[in-house]
Amino acid sequence: MKKLTVALENKKTNVFIDRTADFSVLELNNKNSLLVTDDTMVKSSAAQSLMDAGIPSVVLGSGEKYKSLESIEKIAETGIKLGLDRGAVIIGLGGGVICDMAAFAASVYMRGCRLVLVPTTLLSMVDASIGGKTGVDFLDRKNLIGSFYPAEKVLIYTDFLNTLPTDEFKSGLAELIKHGFLSGDALLDFIETSRDGILARESEISAEAIYRSLKVKAAYIEKDFRETGCRTHLNLGHTFGHALETAAGLGTFTHGEAVAWGIQRAMKAGLNCGITEAAYAERAESILRKYDYNIDFTDFDHELYIKAIASDKKKKDGELRFILQQKAGITEIRPLDENAIREVLETR
Ligand SMILES: NC(=O)c1ccc[n+]([C@@H]2O[C@H](COP(=O)([O-])OP(=O)(O)OC[C@H]3O[C@@H](n4cnc5c(N)ncnc54)[C@H](O)[C@@H]3O)[C@@H](O)[C@H]2O)c1
Repeated sequence: MKKLTVALENKKTNVFIDRTADFSVLELNNKNSLLVTDDTMVKSSAAQSLMDAGIPSVVLGSGEKYKSLESIEKIAETGIKLGLDRGAVIIGLGGGVICDMAAFAASVYMRGCRLVLVPTTLLSMVDASIGGKTGVDFLDRKNLIGSFYPAEKVLIYTDFLNTLPTDEFKSGLAELIKHGFLSGDALLDFIETSRDGILARESEISAEAIYRSLKVKAAYIEKDFRETGCRTHLNLGHTFGHALETAAGLGTFTHGEAVAWGIQRAMKAGLNCGITEAAYAERAESILRKYDYNIDFTDFDHELYIKAIASDKKKKDGELRFILQQKAGITEIRPLDENAIREVLETR
């Protein structure tokens, strides 16, 4: 078992990474715990073992549509009916949607109860379960309402990867690879040399890759929990990628595939404005190709893309700011004008 402790303001998140689910680290009180999961993961043997042990559950529908205030109400209502108090533990077992729902509910239930997350997608293992961001979609906008509320424990079990559909796996993998670009050569070397084992979801290699990737995210969020500074580096590829998700039509690309495409655009933009070293841009491109991301895609409405990127909520003082890199581990934030954005839409 691998362990990692992440210190966030006055709280600590203890992360455990292992192969097969084992909830003995939790020492749960059945009368004051609540499992939150979705209608896919409720069938998993891990969720079943918690329910067999007498832990009551709330089962939400699966997918983004359930990232809503109605889901929070459903969790709170169940907690109140069961008589759960402020010392209760909410256990979120599922992908990023369930992690966000369980965490947001825990942050407001009785003004804050205990929270354990069991992420079951690669994306939620390397991203959504760590760092304390919670949010529901509201008025058709993502994460418009939310809070910062880190889990006290995050239990990562690589066996969950075995049932994950390929597109969901690749989506999370893009965030893991992004952590490689942000951290430096050691993690990138590992990502390059362990490609086959990572893609085969071998448990030892997966655990190592997740552990190393999480250490990168942990370093950022320990420095800047509230995202007022360097935590924004974690958005590498995201501003370009989010606009692609809109311009290509929602659902055409998974989030992670769009991020991989966006990282390639960030490398090109960095090259064009003289920030990114040519050899590094080549290496980044070769890694994204090795993992078979569609980084050459240009067949979308560029005007719609420009409109979508202009409305990005991460604008600061009216300027669109992008995360660019000189090389692995050396990252900066730069504004780019419309011409600079158009230029990278044409290039492969
Ligand atoms: N809070 C954060 O810091 C943060 C960071 C990144 C993403 N997010 C959020 O995460 C969400 C996306 O998360 P996601 O990509 O995990 O999607 P998801 O939670 O919708 O899960 C995707 C699908 O996979 C299914 N699934 C989950 N685990 C499975 C498994 N082991 N085997 C088979 N199927 C499984 C789910 O039931 C669902 O149908 C978005 O809402 C995003 O905003 C939050």
